[in-house]
Amino acid sequence: HLSTSPSSSAPKIERLTVFGAGLMGAGIAQVGAQSGLKVTLSDVTDKALENGLNIISKSLSRVAKKKSPDDIEGFTKKIMDNIETTTDAGKAVENTDLVIEAIIESIKVKRDLFGFLDSKAKSECIFATNTSSLSVKEIAESCGKERQERFAGLHFFNPVPAMKLVEIIRTPQTSTSTYESLKEVTLRMGKAPVTCNDTPGFIVNRLLVPYLLESIRMVERGDATPEDIDTAMELGAGYPMGPFKLLDFVGLDTTSYIAQGWREKAASGQISKELVEPIELLEKLVKEGKLGRKSGQGFYEYENKK
Ligand code: NAI
Repeated sequence: HLSTSPSSSAPKIERLTVFGAGLMGAGIAQVGAQSGLKVTLSDVTDKALENGLNIISKSLSRVAKKKSPDDIEGFTKKIMDNIETTTDAGKAVENTDLVIEAIIESIKVKRDLFGFLDSKAKSECIFATNTSSLSVKEIAESCGKERQERFAGLHFFNPVPAMKLVEIIRTPQTSTSTYESLKEVTLRMGKAPVTCNDTPGFIVNRLLVPYLLESIRMVERGDATPEDIDTAMELGAGYPMGPFKLLDFVGLDTTSYIAQGWREKAASGQISKELVEPIELLEKLVKEGKLGRKSGQGFYEYENKK
C-alpha cells in the first residue's frame, strides 16, 4: 500500500534544486516542475544550462501533444516558468528544500560539490544523489554529521519523464523522516518508489548487469548468437528488449566501466567476484570503439555507423 501522506515529522518539499543539466538532470528538473515544485537547475556553464532547457522544452512539447493538443505553447510555458537556472552553486541552494545531484559520475567531483553545498544550504535541506554506481554513504561523508541524516540516494531511470521507477537508497545514517519526505516527493512526481540499502547496483542494476555480462559470455563461448539470445529473452521471458539490444542502448563502455568498479567492490565481499569477471569480447569491442547505438555499432549496426 502506497500512502501519499508523509509522517507528521517529515518536512514537505516545495523547492527543488537539481545539479547537472544533462540527460538525467534535465529529466528530473522537468518531472519536478510538472509536479508543481519550484525548480532551480544548476550546471557549470551557461551552455550546459541551455542544453538542459532545450531537452526539457522538447520533451514537454511531446507531453503537451497528448495532454493539451490545443495549447502546446501555453502548457509548455506554464511548466518552464517553474524552472530557474543558475551557474552559481551557492545561490542555487539558498532556501531550497531538496537538492538532487545528477552531475558526472565521479566520486571526487560529487564529494566536492556536496561538501560545498553543506555550508550553503539551510540545515533542514535534504541532499540526494542520482549516482548509479557509487556508494551513497561515501558521497554523504563529504557532509557534516547532521546532513548525513538528511542524505540519501534517489536513483531515476532514463528517460526520466517516461520511466516510472525511482530507487530510494538509505544509508545507515539516513533518518526515517528524510526517507518519508523523499518517498512523498517521488510519489508527487508520479513515480513508483522502491527502497534499497546502499549496495552495488541497488536493485535494478544489481540484477541486470550480471545478466548482461552472462549474455556476452554465452556469445563468446559460441553457445548462441546475439540475435537468437535477444529473440529468446523477448519471446521466452517476456522482456521488452533482449540483452544485446539493451547493451547497445546502455553503451558497452558504460557496462565495462560498471563491471570494473564492481570488481573493486568484490574484493571487500559486497558482490561475488565470478559475476563481474572481465570479458575479452566486451573489452575488444570497447577498444575498437564499438560502443553501441551512440557510436553506430555495438553488437548490432545502426544507421549512424561511422
Ligand atoms: P550527462 O553527462 O548527460 O550530464 C552531466 C552534467 O553535469 C553535464 O551537463 C555537466 O556539465 C554537469 N556537471 C559536471 N560537473 C558539475 C558540477 N560540479 N556542478 C554542476 N554540474 C556539473 O550525465 P547523465 O547521464 O545525466 O548522468 C548524471 C548522473 O546520473 C551520473 O551520476 C549518472 O551515473 C547518473 N545516472 C545516469 C543514468 C543514465 O542512463 N545516463 C541513469 C541513472 C543515473
